[in-house]
Amino acid sequence: MAKIEFDKISLDYLDAGGQPFNALDEISFEVKEGEFVSIIGSSGCGKSTVLSILAGLNEPKSGEYTIDGNKVTGTGRDRGVVFQHYSLFPWMSVRKNVEFGIKQNFPSLNRKELENKAYEYLAKVGLKGFENKYPSQLSGGMQQRAAIARTLAMETDILLMDEPFGAIDAKNRVILQDLLVDILESTVPKKTIIFVTHDVDEAIYLSDRILFMKNKKIERSIDVPFDRPRKRETLAGSSRYREFRQDIVNLFYYDNELRSEYEGGEGI
Ligand SMILES: Nc1ncnc2c1ncn2[C@@H]1O[C@H](COP(=O)(O)OP(=O)(O)OP(=O)(O)O)[C@@H](O)[C@H]1O
Ligand SMILES: [Mg+2]
Repeated sequence: MAKIEFDKISLDYLDAGGQPFNALDEISFEVKEGEFVSIIGSSGCGKSTVLSILAGLNEPKSGEYTIDGNKVTGTGRDRGVVFQHYSLFPWMSVRKNVEFGIKQNFPSLNRKELENKAYEYLAKVGLKGFENKYPSQLSGGMQQRAAIARTLAMETDILLMDEPFGAIDAKNRVILQDLLVDILESTVPKKTIIFVTHDVDEAIYLSDRILFMKNKKIERSIDVPFDRPRKRETLAGSSRYREFRQDIVNLFYYDNELRSEYEGGEGI
Protein backbone atom coordinates (compact mmCIF):
# COMPACT_ATOMS: atom_id res chain seq x y z
CA MET A 1 0.00 0.00 0.00
CA ALA A 2 1.20 3.52 -0.77
CA LYS A 3 2.24 5.68 2.18
CA ILE A 4 0.57 8.71 0.61
CA GLU A 5 -2.10 8.67 -2.06
CA PHE A 6 -3.65 11.67 -3.80
CA ASP A 7 -6.67 10.60 -5.79
CA LYS A 8 -8.12 13.17 -8.21
CA ILE A 9 -7.59 16.13 -5.90
CA SER A 10 -8.92 19.47 -7.12
CA LEU A 11 -8.78 22.81 -5.36
CA ASP A 12 -10.20 26.23 -6.10
CA TYR A 13 -9.07 29.49 -4.53
CA LEU A 14 -11.15 32.65 -4.60
CA ASP A 15 -9.64 35.35 -6.78
CA ALA A 16 -9.59 39.05 -5.87
CA GLY A 17 -13.15 39.42 -7.23
CA GLY A 18 -14.39 36.51 -5.08
CA GLN A 19 -14.67 34.18 -8.07
CA PRO A 20 -13.38 30.58 -7.87
CA PHE A 21 -9.97 30.14 -9.44
CA ASN A 22 -8.92 26.56 -10.17
CA ALA A 23 -5.39 25.86 -8.84
CA LEU A 24 -5.30 22.04 -8.93
CA ASP A 25 -7.16 19.94 -11.47
CA GLU A 26 -7.70 16.29 -10.48
CA ILE A 27 -4.17 15.60 -9.32
CA SER A 28 -3.32 11.97 -8.61
CA PHE A 29 -0.05 10.51 -7.38
CA GLU A 30 1.30 7.99 -4.90
CA VAL A 31 4.36 8.09 -2.68
CA LYS A 32 5.88 4.94 -1.23
CA GLU A 33 6.98 4.63 2.39
CA GLY A 34 10.56 5.90 2.74
CA GLU A 35 10.56 7.54 -0.69
CA PHE A 36 12.05 11.01 -1.31
CA VAL A 37 9.93 12.75 -3.95
CA SER A 38 10.60 16.26 -5.28
CA ILE A 39 8.00 18.41 -6.99
CA ILE A 40 9.26 20.83 -9.62
CA GLY A 41 7.40 23.12 -12.02
CA SER A 42 7.01 26.77 -12.98
CA SER A 43 6.04 29.42 -10.49
CA GLY A 44 2.30 29.37 -9.88
CA CYS A 45 1.73 25.81 -11.15
CA GLY A 46 0.42 24.70 -7.74
CA LYS A 47 3.37 23.10 -5.90
CA SER A 48 2.78 24.89 -2.60
CA THR A 49 -0.92 24.21 -2.89
CA VAL A 50 -0.21 20.47 -3.13
CA LEU A 51 2.01 20.76 -0.07
CA SER A 52 -0.59 22.72 1.88
CA ILE A 53 -3.15 19.99 1.23
CA LEU A 54 -0.62 17.32 2.25
CA ALA A 55 -0.03 19.28 5.46
CA GLY A 56 -3.79 19.52 6.05
CA LEU A 57 -3.74 23.32 5.89
CA ASN A 58 -6.03 23.47 2.85
CA GLU A 59 -9.13 21.41 2.05
CA PRO A 60 -9.49 20.06 -1.49
CA LYS A 61 -12.72 20.79 -3.34
CA SER A 62 -12.92 17.18 -4.48
CA GLY A 63 -10.88 14.01 -4.48
CA GLU A 64 -9.42 11.95 -1.70
CA TYR A 65 -6.13 12.06 0.19
CA THR A 66 -4.99 9.06 2.25
CA ILE A 67 -2.00 8.21 4.45
CA ASP A 68 -1.51 4.48 5.11
CA GLY A 69 -4.91 3.99 3.52
CA ASN A 70 -6.72 6.30 5.97
CA LYS A 71 -8.52 9.36 4.70
CA VAL A 72 -6.86 12.61 5.82
CA THR A 73 -8.97 15.62 6.72
CA GLY A 74 -6.66 18.00 8.59
CA THR A 75 -3.25 18.51 10.16
CA GLY A 76 -1.65 15.60 12.02
CA ARG A 77 1.23 14.51 14.18
CA ASP A 78 2.41 12.20 11.42
CA ARG A 79 3.53 15.16 9.26
CA GLY A 80 6.19 17.82 9.83
CA VAL A 81 6.48 20.89 7.63
CA VAL A 82 9.42 23.16 6.73
CA PHE A 83 8.73 26.31 4.73
CA GLN A 84 11.02 28.54 2.69
CA HIS A 85 10.90 31.39 5.16
CA TYR A 86 12.24 30.48 8.52
CA SER A 87 9.12 30.05 10.55
CA LEU A 88 10.73 30.44 13.97
CA PHE A 89 9.07 32.42 16.74
CA PRO A 90 11.29 35.51 17.10
CA TRP A 91 10.56 35.91 20.81
CA MET A 92 11.86 32.44 21.73
CA SER A 93 15.43 31.14 21.81
CA VAL A 94 16.15 28.48 19.19
CA ARG A 95 16.06 25.84 21.94
CA LYS A 96 12.59 27.00 23.01
CA ASN A 97 11.50 26.98 19.38
CA VAL A 98 12.60 23.36 19.04
CA GLU A 99 11.01 22.44 22.37
CA PHE A 100 7.78 24.00 21.14
CA GLY A 101 7.76 21.58 18.18
CA ILE A 102 8.60 18.61 20.41
CA LYS A 103 5.78 19.46 22.85
CA GLN A 104 3.25 19.20 20.03
CA ASN A 105 4.11 15.56 19.44
CA PHE A 106 5.40 14.47 22.86
CA PRO A 107 3.17 16.27 25.37
CA SER A 108 4.10 13.93 28.22
CA LEU A 109 7.86 14.70 28.26
CA ASN A 110 9.13 16.51 31.34
CA ARG A 111 11.22 19.68 31.20
CA LYS A 112 14.59 17.90 31.25
CA GLU A 113 13.54 15.38 28.59
CA LEU A 114 12.28 18.18 26.37
CA GLU A 115 15.51 20.06 26.79
CA ASN A 116 17.64 17.00 26.05
CA LYS A 117 15.73 16.25 22.87
CA ALA A 118 16.08 19.87 21.75
CA TYR A 119 19.84 19.79 22.39
CA GLU A 120 20.13 16.48 20.51
CA TYR A 121 18.42 17.82 17.38
CA LEU A 122 20.17 21.19 17.45
CA ALA A 123 23.48 19.32 17.58
CA LYS A 124 22.42 17.20 14.58
CA VAL A 125 21.99 20.34 12.47
CA GLY A 126 25.28 21.85 13.64
CA LEU A 127 23.89 24.40 16.11
CA LYS A 128 25.66 23.16 19.21
CA GLY A 129 26.57 26.21 21.28
CA PHE A 130 23.81 28.37 19.72
CA GLU A 131 20.89 26.89 21.66
CA ASN A 132 20.16 30.02 23.67
CA LYS A 133 20.44 32.51 20.82
CA TYR A 134 17.36 34.22 19.45
CA PRO A 135 16.53 33.82 15.73
CA SER A 136 17.51 37.44 15.01
CA GLN A 137 21.02 36.69 16.31
CA LEU A 138 21.53 33.96 13.68
CA SER A 139 22.23 34.04 9.93
CA GLY A 140 19.51 32.95 7.51
CA GLY A 141 21.19 29.58 7.02
CA MET A 142 21.40 29.02 10.77
CA GLN A 143 17.76 29.97 11.23
CA GLN A 144 16.80 27.44 8.59
CA ARG A 145 18.90 24.80 10.37
CA ALA A 146 16.95 25.59 13.53
CA ALA A 147 13.64 25.32 11.67
CA ILE A 148 14.74 21.94 10.29
CA ALA A 149 15.79 20.82 13.78
CA ARG A 150 12.37 21.81 15.12
CA THR A 151 10.58 19.76 12.48
CA LEU A 152 12.95 16.76 12.71
CA ALA A 153 12.63 16.75 16.51
CA MET A 154 8.90 16.11 16.12
CA GLU A 155 9.97 12.71 14.76
CA THR A 156 7.19 12.47 12.20
CA ASP A 157 7.05 9.72 9.55
CA ILE A 158 6.46 12.28 6.83
CA LEU A 159 8.40 15.47 6.10
CA LEU A 160 6.91 18.14 3.85
CA MET A 161 9.41 20.74 2.68
CA ASP A 162 8.44 23.76 0.57
CA GLU A 163 11.59 25.24 -0.97
CA PRO A 164 13.35 24.96 2.40
CA PHE A 165 16.66 26.16 0.94
CA GLY A 166 15.15 28.67 -1.49
CA ALA A 167 16.36 31.72 0.43
CA ILE A 168 19.83 30.35 1.21
CA ASP A 169 22.98 31.35 -0.70
CA ALA A 170 24.52 28.75 -3.05
CA LYS A 171 27.32 27.60 -0.75
CA ASN A 172 25.15 27.17 2.33
CA ARG A 173 22.50 25.52 0.22
CA VAL A 174 24.93 22.74 -0.72
CA ILE A 175 25.93 22.37 2.94
CA LEU A 176 22.28 22.13 4.01
CA GLN A 177 21.47 19.60 1.27
CA ASP A 178 24.34 17.41 2.48
CA LEU A 179 23.22 17.83 6.07
CA LEU A 180 19.70 16.73 5.14
CA VAL A 181 21.05 13.69 3.26
CA ASP A 182 23.28 12.73 6.23
CA ILE A 183 20.43 13.02 8.71
CA LEU A 184 18.00 11.11 6.51
CA GLU A 185 20.46 8.32 5.76
CA SER A 186 21.08 7.79 9.47
CA THR A 187 17.39 7.87 10.42
CA VAL A 188 15.54 4.58 10.94
CA PRO A 189 12.84 3.92 9.83
CA LYS A 190 13.28 5.97 6.69
CA LYS A 191 11.14 9.07 6.45
CA THR A 192 8.81 9.73 3.55
CA ILE A 193 9.62 13.14 2.08
CA ILE A 194 7.92 15.51 -0.31
CA PHE A 195 10.23 18.35 -1.25
CA VAL A 196 9.28 21.31 -3.44
CA THR A 197 12.13 23.03 -5.28
CA HIS A 198 12.91 25.17 -8.32
CA ASP A 199 16.43 23.80 -8.46
CA VAL A 200 16.87 20.90 -10.90
CA ASP A 201 20.28 19.86 -9.48
CA GLU A 202 18.85 19.87 -5.96
CA ALA A 203 15.91 17.72 -7.06
CA ILE A 204 18.18 15.19 -8.76
CA TYR A 205 20.72 15.06 -5.94
CA LEU A 206 18.13 14.52 -3.20
CA SER A 207 15.29 12.54 -4.75
CA ASP A 208 14.31 9.02 -5.64
CA ARG A 209 11.67 10.44 -7.97
CA ILE A 210 10.73 13.83 -9.42
CA LEU A 211 7.16 14.91 -10.11
CA PHE A 212 6.95 17.57 -12.79
CA MET A 213 3.89 19.81 -12.47
CA LYS A 214 2.36 21.75 -15.32
CA ASN A 215 -1.06 23.23 -15.93
CA LYS A 216 -2.39 22.34 -12.47
CA LYS A 217 -1.54 18.67 -13.01
CA ILE A 218 1.32 16.27 -12.45
CA GLU A 219 2.63 16.02 -15.99
CA ARG A 220 5.45 13.50 -15.46
CA SER A 221 6.84 11.22 -12.80
CA ILE A 222 10.56 10.68 -13.37
CA ASP A 223 12.66 8.09 -11.54
CA VAL A 224 16.12 9.39 -10.65
CA PRO A 225 18.51 6.71 -11.95
CA PHE A 226 21.47 7.25 -9.60
CA ASP A 227 22.42 4.89 -6.78
CA ARG A 228 22.89 6.07 -3.21
CA PRO A 229 24.94 7.20 -1.47
CA ARG A 230 25.45 9.87 -4.14
CA LYS A 231 28.58 11.92 -4.46
CA ARG A 232 28.19 15.36 -5.96
CA GLU A 233 31.57 15.31 -7.70
CA THR A 234 31.00 11.87 -9.24
CA LEU A 235 27.53 12.82 -10.40
CA ALA A 236 28.62 16.12 -11.93
CA GLY A 237 31.44 14.41 -13.81
CA SER A 238 29.27 11.72 -15.41
CA SER A 239 27.77 12.09 -18.87
CA ARG A 240 24.71 10.14 -17.74
CA TYR A 241 24.04 12.83 -15.14
CA ARG A 242 24.49 15.65 -17.66
CA GLU A 243 22.07 14.01 -20.11
CA PHE A 244 19.47 13.33 -17.43
CA ARG A 245 19.79 16.87 -16.09
CA GLN A 246 19.43 18.31 -19.58
CA ASP A 247 16.23 16.29 -20.18
CA ILE A 248 14.71 17.73 -17.03
CA VAL A 249 15.87 21.26 -17.81
CA ASN A 250 14.29 20.97 -21.28
CA LEU A 251 11.03 19.84 -19.75
CA PHE A 252 11.13 22.69 -17.25
CA TYR A 253 11.99 25.48 -19.71
CA TYR A 254 9.76 24.22 -22.47
CA ASP A 255 6.98 24.85 -19.99
CA ASN A 256 8.27 28.37 -19.31
CA GLU A 257 8.46 29.15 -23.01
CA LEU A 258 4.89 28.05 -23.57
CA ARG A 259 3.72 30.11 -20.65
CA SER A 260 5.39 33.33 -21.75
CA GLU A 261 4.06 32.93 -25.32
CA TYR A 262 0.64 32.40 -23.93
CA GLU A 263 0.98 35.52 -21.82
CA GLY A 264 2.06 37.50 -24.87
CA GLY A 265 5.62 38.04 -23.60
CA GLU A 266 8.75 38.14 -25.72
CA GLY A 267 9.64 34.47 -25.14
CA ILE A 268 13.16 33.33 -24.40
N1 LIG B 1 -4.50 31.96 -0.97
C1 LIG B 1 -4.64 32.09 -2.30
N2 LIG B 1 -5.70 32.75 -2.82
C2 LIG B 1 -5.88 32.87 -4.14
N3 LIG B 1 -5.05 32.34 -5.06
C3 LIG B 1 -3.95 31.69 -4.61
C4 LIG B 1 -3.70 31.53 -3.21
N4 LIG B 1 -2.55 30.81 -3.05
C5 LIG B 1 -2.10 30.55 -4.30
N5 LIG B 1 -2.95 31.06 -5.23
C6 LIG B 1 -2.81 30.92 -6.69
O1 LIG B 1 -2.85 29.53 -6.99
C7 LIG B 1 -1.89 29.18 -7.98
C8 LIG B 1 -0.94 28.14 -7.41
O2 LIG B 1 -0.17 28.75 -6.37
P1 LIG B 1 1.01 28.00 -5.62
O3 LIG B 1 1.46 28.91 -4.53
O4 LIG B 1 0.56 26.64 -5.24
O5 LIG B 1 2.11 27.90 -6.77
P2 LIG B 1 3.63 27.41 -6.68
O6 LIG B 1 3.79 26.39 -7.75
O7 LIG B 1 3.97 27.02 -5.30
O8 LIG B 1 4.43 28.74 -7.09
P3 LIG B 1 5.88 29.25 -6.62
O9 LIG B 1 6.87 28.40 -7.38
O10 LIG B 1 5.92 30.67 -7.08
O11 LIG B 1 5.99 29.11 -5.14
C9 LIG B 1 -1.22 30.49 -8.38
O12 LIG B 1 -1.87 30.98 -9.53
C10 LIG B 1 -1.47 31.40 -7.20
O13 LIG B 1 -1.53 32.75 -7.61
MG1 LIG C 1 5.31 27.80 -3.85
